[in-house]
Amino acid sequence: MKLHKKFKNFYEPSTDTFFLADNLKQEHGYSALDIGTGSGYLAQALLRNFKFVVSTDINLYNFKSHNSKLSYCICCENADALLYKFDLVVCNPPYLPSDGINDITIDGGKDGIEVTFKIINSAKNNMKKSASIMFLTSSLSNYDKLLHDINFIGLKTVIVATKKLFFEELMLVRAQINE
Ligand SMILES: C[S@@+](CC[C@H](N)C(=O)[O-])C[C@H]1O[C@@H](n2cnc3c(N)ncnc32)[C@H](O)[C@@H]1O
Repeated sequence: MKLHKKFKNFYEPSTDTFFLADNLKQEHGYSALDIGTGSGYLAQALLRNFKFVVSTDINLYNFKSHNSKLSYCICCENADALLYKFDLVVCNPPYLPSDGINDITIDGGKDGIEVTFKIINSAKNNMKKSASIMFLTSSLSNYDKLLHDINFIGLKTVIVATKKLFFEELMLVRAQINE
C-alpha cells in the first residue's frame, strides 16, 4: 500500500521526549493517556507509575513499528475515539509554526499552536476532575495565545518546567480543570 507522504515520517525519541519523560517520574495514579505517542517512549515511561496506560496516534504506522509492551494503542486523531476518563494525560505534540500540515510529527499549524489546541480541547473530555494534562510547547510558537485559548475552554495552566535549547526554549505546561 502506498503511504500518504504525511504519514511517512516517524518521530524518534528526542530531547523534548526525554525532557517530558523526566518530568513524569513524580506523577502517580491508576490511568494515563499518551496522545501522539509516536515510538511509545512516553507511554512506556508512564507504565512505571500507572497500571492502565493508553496511547493514541493519528499515524497507524507508528504502532506497527512499535516493539513494546504497550497493549492499548488506538489510532485516532487527538483523543477523539475515547470515552474513558484518566488521572493523567500527556502529550508531546507537533508544535513548530507551519503553513499547513505537511509533516504530522512536527508541524503545529498556524503559530505552532493549532494542533496542540485541538489535542487539549479533545483531551479535556478524558480527564477525571482532579486530572492534569501535561504537554510541551515552544518559545517558537505563540504559546501566550495557546495558554489563553486553553484557559478559555475551562482549564487553568501553569508552566512547570522549562528547558533552554540552542534555538528555542521548551515549556512543559500542566493544565487542570478550573473549578
Ligand atoms: C513530536 S511527535 C512526539 C512523539 C512521541 N510522543 C515522543 O515524544 O517522542 C508527535 C506525534 O503526534 C502524532 N500526531 C500528530 N497530530 C496528531 C493528532 N492530531 N492526534 C494524534 N496524534 C497526532 C504524530 O504522528 C507523532 O507521532
